[in-house]
Amino acid sequence: MFRVTKKKTRKLNGIVNSLGLAVLKRLSPETAHTIALQMIRMGLVSIQKPIKDKRLETSIGNLKLDNPIGLAAGFDKNAIALKQLFDFGFGFVEIGAITPEPQFGNQKPRVFRLKEDAAIINRLGFNNDGAKVISCRLKQEKKSTGVLGINIGANKDSLDRTADYEKVIQTCAKYADFVTINISSPNTLNLRELQDKSNLEALLSSLMKNSIEKLDQKPVFLKVAPDLTITELEGIVETAFKYKVSAIIATNTTLDRQSLISKHQNQMGGLSGKPLFRKSTKILAELSIISEGKLPLIGVGGVSSAEDAYIKICAGASAIQLYTALTISSSSLLHSISKGMLKFLQDEGHQNISEAVGSKKEHFSKL
Ligand code: FNR
Repeated sequence: MFRVTKKKTRKLNGIVNSLGLAVLKRLSPETAHTIALQMIRMGLVSIQKPIKDKRLETSIGNLKLDNPIGLAAGFDKNAIALKQLFDFGFGFVEIGAITPEPQFGNQKPRVFRLKEDAAIINRLGFNNDGAKVISCRLKQEKKSTGVLGINIGANKDSLDRTADYEKVIQTCAKYADFVTINISSPNTLNLRELQDKSNLEALLSSLMKNSIEKLDQKPVFLKVAPDLTITELEGIVETAFKYKVSAIIATNTTLDRQSLISKHQNQMGGLSGKPLFRKSTKILAELSIISEGKLPLIGVGGVSSAEDAYIKICAGASAIQLYTALTISSSSLLHSISKGMLKFLQDEGHQNISEAVGSKKEHFSKL
């Protein structure tokens, strides 16, 4: 009886999945995403989960992950579908960006599909429900979830950005397992200047001093842009070590517009997806070299296959995240990434994914 019901549900989910996809592709990308997220929340979307296997178990700092495949920030900005996203089998999920006050973001349209490039350009501008509302959702949901991170930002009209980050930590950090300081969104004016060594130093010293109690030993990650020079990366790594940052997430979206063919290629905003892969992987490998493999890294940017994910690992990532490919690929993406990764591990004689971390960083730094 149970099996029959389960089978029927699966069949129904399959129909909803394919019907849903066909309809969603005709809508504007932002509307499509809003509806898709609601469908996920209602349990109407099913996916093939990643394979559970000891060889894929990994860790970032003191966080233990069942697998190294994470959901990148921006997909569920307001934490409305946490339980279902964890049910999909992600090793970790990052929600947000969260700002202290609710924020509408930039004028619509502000998300563009670059179909021929397998990419997205977005200039959303930290649209979110604000720390208070999101913290209430986190409080309710947290019990039923896995490793959860909050991506934190500052309001557009903030006069004191450091205070904004502190407010979000105060309100939300207690419900999360890690906190990502987003200093790399290209859609909030001058936010990326926080990546400059002296600005970062000022930000981290204040955060670590004033929010240490609220953080309660929780790992703090920094999320950086792909549009950085080696000198800038060196400054970030040095400051990260000084303030005991637990990991760097590399990278956010790019302002670079090289070799695109889609009609929306010149839209303002951050570019994600396939064209970001090379650049973000090079930055990742450079960070791994600069930090001598001593600072855990999370690789994100253009991952759409097991090979991409494994390249990120070999370039220095202990785990990966993805977003854009989820909006393009089939519902078996997570499963096929995990399956392919296991094959790569086997072919290279590794007993665990951690053995492959950074194994080809020199090679990928030359991309
Ligand atoms: C993002 N990303 C993002 N990152 C972040 O740190 N905070 C955020 O709020 C958002 N919001 C957001 C919205 C949209 C529509 C997109 C496409 C992306 C960036 C995201 O987390 C990731 O770093 C990049 O998209 C690169 O990964 P993919 O998409 O190429 O896998």
